[in-house]
Amino acid sequence: MKINRVIGVFWSATGNTRQLVLNIGSGLASRVACDFQEVDFTPKAAREQTYSFQEGDVVIVGSPTYAGKLPNKILPDFQEKLKGNGAVAVAVVTYGNRSFDNSLAELKQTLEADGFFVAGAAAFACRHAFTDMLGGGRPSKEDFAEAEDFQQKLAVRLQGENPSEWSVSVPGNPEAPYYVPLGTDGQPAKFLKAKPLTDMEACTNCGICVGLCPMQSISAEHVSQVPGICIKCQACVRGCPEGAKYFDDPAFLSHVEMLTLNYASPLKENRFFL
Ligand SMILES: Cc1cc2nc3c(=O)[nH]c(=O)nc-3n(C[C@H](O)[C@H](O)[C@H](O)COP(=O)(O)O)c2cc1C
Ligand code: SF4
Ligand code: SF4
Repeated sequence: MKINRVIGVFWSATGNTRQLVLNIGSGLASRVACDFQEVDFTPKAAREQTYSFQEGDVVIVGSPTYAGKLPNKILPDFQEKLKGNGAVAVAVVTYGNRSFDNSLAELKQTLEADGFFVAGAAAFACRHAFTDMLGGGRPSKEDFAEAEDFQQKLAVRLQGENPSEWSVSVPGNPEAPYYVPLGTDGQPAKFLKAKPLTDMEACTNCGICVGLCPMQSISAEHVSQVPGICIKCQACVRGCPEGAKYFDDPAFLSHVEMLTLNYASPLKENRFFL
């Protein structure tokens, strides 16, 4: 097929998905000698716009795994704001060394419903947003080397075959329920209402967290207040230059401890589907 441009579209609260989509997209664009553009789909304002693609576009679409699927508050935007119009897509999910369960299947299904031909898919094991004890340091040099190998195989497929001949099969069931987070006692950890706290002695009132919150939930007037919905994405916790944001919800902390006890090792392998 003739490729006119490669576009990387990512929702990425703590940066893993962004890094991988940009690596795959820019590398693929240089292999097939065309322009590369990026769409940061993370901020709420970016998700209020519609993005229309066309034949000749190859769109690398990335999302993290949340509770075994796509983040439920973001899924409607992936469903409604991306218009494939016969363009090609590559589905990329990241996950924090527990499991990507059904997220890649859900992303592939969503992209097909959006009007894309899916040329390939990948799931990358990365640092868990909740703790560096799971997948800390990933994506690593080795992960990027695997992403480059994937780019090369994609370039061969895109230049050789007709999109109607592709049949990419990924594990998982898009209709499956969300993973239920457990605590160290093995019981469901209920932290849906938890919100980050702020150490006001460390906070310099710089406002960075306000801009980072993909839900626009942190008050600009009082940065310690979170009047909106919190999806526990950790953008504010990891992005605060003073380390002033933290969660103290006991159920949340118990879940993080359970993950650390059970999923820190072995390190999971990345998976590629063409
Ligand atoms: C609310 C939430 C739920 C998560 N659920 C899972 C999960 O079910 N399985 C898993 O392995 N990682 C899970 N993770 C970890 C993320 O998928 C992982 O850290 C991802 O790479 C973050 O992407 P980002 O850096 O682009 O935001 C979860 C993270 C968050 C914040
Ligand atoms: S990013 Fe950190 S230091 Fe800046 S306003 Fe937010 S909590 Fe305060
Ligand atoms: S307040 Fe919640 S949703 Fe907003 S950045 Fe922080 S963790 Fe994410």
